[in-house]
Amino acid sequence: MNLKEALNVASEELMKTGSLDAKLEAEVLLRHVLKIDRAAMFRDLDEDISMEDSSNIASLVKRRIKREPLAYITGVKEFYGLPFVVSEDVLIPRQETELLVDAAIVQAKSLGKNQISIVDVGTGSGAIAVSLALNIPTSSIIAVDISEAALAIADDNRRTHGLYSRIKLRRGNLLEPIIDKIDILVSNLPYIRSDKLTSLQEEVLREPVVALDGGYDGLELIKRLLFQAVDKMSNPGVILFEIDPDQASEAVKLCQQFFPSAITTVLKDLSNNERAVLLEIR
Ligand SMILES: C[S@@+](CC[C@H](N)C(=O)[O-])C[C@H]1O[C@@H](n2cnc3c(N)ncnc32)[C@H](O)[C@@H]1O
Repeated sequence: MNLKEALNVASEELMKTGSLDAKLEAEVLLRHVLKIDRAAMFRDLDEDISMEDSSNIASLVKRRIKREPLAYITGVKEFYGLPFVVSEDVLIPRQETELLVDAAIVQAKSLGKNQISIVDVGTGSGAIAVSLALNIPTSSIIAVDISEAALAIADDNRRTHGLYSRIKLRRGNLLEPIIDKIDILVSNLPYIRSDKLTSLQEEVLREPVVALDGGYDGLELIKRLLFQAVDKMSNPGVILFEIDPDQASEAVKLCQQFFPSAITTVLKDLSNNERAVLLEIR
């Protein structure tokens, strides 16, 4: 079988599951097995592939048909233009979360400090922390997670990106491990309501429940984070956290309750959904 035929077989199999991205996913799986980039794949479409490669591609396609997320199969996900190792121990970084990184970079510039201390709570794969460290050279970052297994993945990612000394990892509950004052607190904590968890897409249900479950109203962890942040933020300082669009007005109320004199703004993602809250403490 040549590469083109293998690609067609894989995408037809994936199409049976109703996937809209069947062709693209087939390409990703094939390139993962053959360890080639896109250019090489198109160049070598007429080349034969070995029986071993063809059976490896077939077994990955089977896993995908069983709704295992593509990123867990390949073990890598791109975020903020950077590659991140992922496993079933971490949430797969989402494109909409890049909004938090964009906003934090802007805020870091406007704080105008020589050294900026950033805390990323619920770091998971470390995608936010790594992206910030690379884009804010004056930052020192502490990345916190309650999951030891997630921190092992974040450790991998900080090392791969050469950030071992710039990002400290701490295991703990929200801000409990943080002693020093924080200039920028950034967080994508779980915010899905507990009663909605069972109705999630099958791929999402493969992700760790500790990365999804936001308690009875979805805002439980965010509420606790804001409560803890009151004594830990610098002035001026910035808090940025991701939300579900349905939670925007409730989240703003919480910010006003814990930080009555701060400026609170709801930020929209590229799909025009209210996706994050920015709190400027002055
Ligand atoms: C939605 S995931 C976000 C992961 C990553 N920051 C991202 O945006 O891709 C939430 C993360 O928060 C962590 N987490 C859940 N409860 C926590 C808590 N009480 N304290 C610290 N981290 C927590 C989970 O283990 C998970 O890694």
